[in-house]
Amino acid sequence: METPTMKPDTVLILDFGSQYTHLITRRIRSLNVFSLVLSGTSSLKQISSHNPRVVILSGGPHSVHAHDAPSFPEGFVEWAEGNGVHVLGICYGLQLIVQRLGGVVVEGESKEYGKMEIEVKGGESEIFGKGRVGEKQVVWMSHGDEALKLPDGFEVVAQSAQGAVAALENRGRRIYGLQYHPEVTHSPKGMETLKHFLFDVCGVSADWKMEDLMEEEIKVINNTVAADEHVICALSGGVDSTVAATLVHKAIGDRLHCIFVDNGLLRYKEQERVMDTFERDLHLPVTCVDASEQFLSQLKGVVDPETKRKIIGKEFINIFDQFAHELEKKHGKKPAFLVQGTLYPDVIESCPPPGTDRTHSHTIKSHHNVGGLPKDMKLKLIEPLKLLFKDEVRELGRILNVPVGFLKRHPFPGPGLAVRVLGDVTQGNALEVLRQVDEIFIQSIRDAGLYDSIWQAFAVFLPVRSVGVQGDKRTHSHVVALRAVTSQDGMTADWFNFEHKFLDDVSRKICNSVQGVNRVVQDITSKPPSTIEWE
Ligand code: XMP
Repeated sequence: METPTMKPDTVLILDFGSQYTHLITRRIRSLNVFSLVLSGTSSLKQISSHNPRVVILSGGPHSVHAHDAPSFPEGFVEWAEGNGVHVLGICYGLQLIVQRLGGVVVEGESKEYGKMEIEVKGGESEIFGKGRVGEKQVVWMSHGDEALKLPDGFEVVAQSAQGAVAALENRGRRIYGLQYHPEVTHSPKGMETLKHFLFDVCGVSADWKMEDLMEEEIKVINNTVAADEHVICALSGGVDSTVAATLVHKAIGDRLHCIFVDNGLLRYKEQERVMDTFERDLHLPVTCVDASEQFLSQLKGVVDPETKRKIIGKEFINIFDQFAHELEKKHGKKPAFLVQGTLYPDVIESCPPPGTDRTHSHTIKSHHNVGGLPKDMKLKLIEPLKLLFKDEVRELGRILNVPVGFLKRHPFPGPGLAVRVLGDVTQGNALEVLRQVDEIFIQSIRDAGLYDSIWQAFAVFLPVRSVGVQGDKRTHSHVVALRAVTSQDGMTADWFNFEHKFLDDVSRKICNSVQGVNRVVQDITSKPPSTIEWE
């Protein structure tokens, strides 16, 4: 007998633009429940195609009274009721429920922002668990409008200290609302409420596991790539492309062809180190192309950061193109697919919810793409990580036996040291000096046991010289800067506060062992106003 494919219970989140939408998804996944985000204006067909057990309507920056206020589609509530789907509105989501089902939402007399106390009301609240009437808890509010009159059949089950509706439910129709954000840590009991809601009220099963996702992805890849087709993947030496390639390799074996380009802008011994991991630990079929000369000759004399990025992108495409042609000659068939390590936040951010004034995030991040693809290659994309967050990719990497040390590597920009040597990268021995300084800094961070507490650390070569005295002689040598930051996602960052002794030791070591450096400075700016990289 054939075993039916088990589909995990899905919690769908309709995104109306809240800054916390990702967080709700992550919180739910941390409970081993599969959760996906869809745009708040998705059609009923798109919503129902995921066959969700629960739909959460997210918060958002709008007023339900705005003429372009986004909302769920006609027939959504009827569909949910008819299919036993539970609906939970959070903040704006609650107000949408009230307004669309015949209640009244008004601009609140006093807005509620920040921590507030709420009290559980009513007799039979499901969302807080029965018998909790009178119980108080602190929650995080962020709203201007409030529900004045509830639709028929709805009951207030919690009220804020100011008397506003903090939670409501219609148990018969399986529709619930929280005016506050249970997903943020400022609502200390929020996770408990969410957990209780999903497992006890909605009966969702905690059956989502990374191993299942991996098996599912392998099946999808095998169904997508025909037995005689070839796939290519550009490895950057970073976590995402490595995990994506390892997964595809597990699915289709050596019909995957990886390329690693040494563009002359890599860190100290980077080529040897990553090739070692690719070949020895992961058994990936990788062609290593040493194109240092090609890149550096194009970059000679170029000082503008964006021009440098563009040149690097273009060279990268040329090499990639050549690689594909060589594969075609060898196998008699053009590679048809390209593996990319796209992550879920990129997918969500590339479809900003309506009315948020956020533009396509590709414009914001375009400078972070190493190159792109030659237009005439017409490769179809395989993006096996596109449903995962960074920490989930690391977990998948662990299951795929990618060495843990590799999975914890700090991010490294595609244009490499070109954005860390300010100005012309080919000036004197700038790249060589930078590599040595960077290696001492990173090794010292590792020795001090600090590597995993830092998001990213690196050295920068400054195109200036300063006067010094070394061995009783005056010198006129290079200045290097050290940068280390903490961050959640690279979008904002704080500078890392090293102990004085650590900095003193590193600075001494650098000046004593790297010829041509007589001054070390530390970057103590957060992002914003600075960016993480210097160019
Ligand atoms: P910034 O400097 O914009 O960096 O604060 C945020 C994160 O992105 C990395 N970064 C890049 N990555 N190509 C990349 O692939 C680039 O051109 C690029 N510029 C910055 C940076 O290292 C940090 O992790």
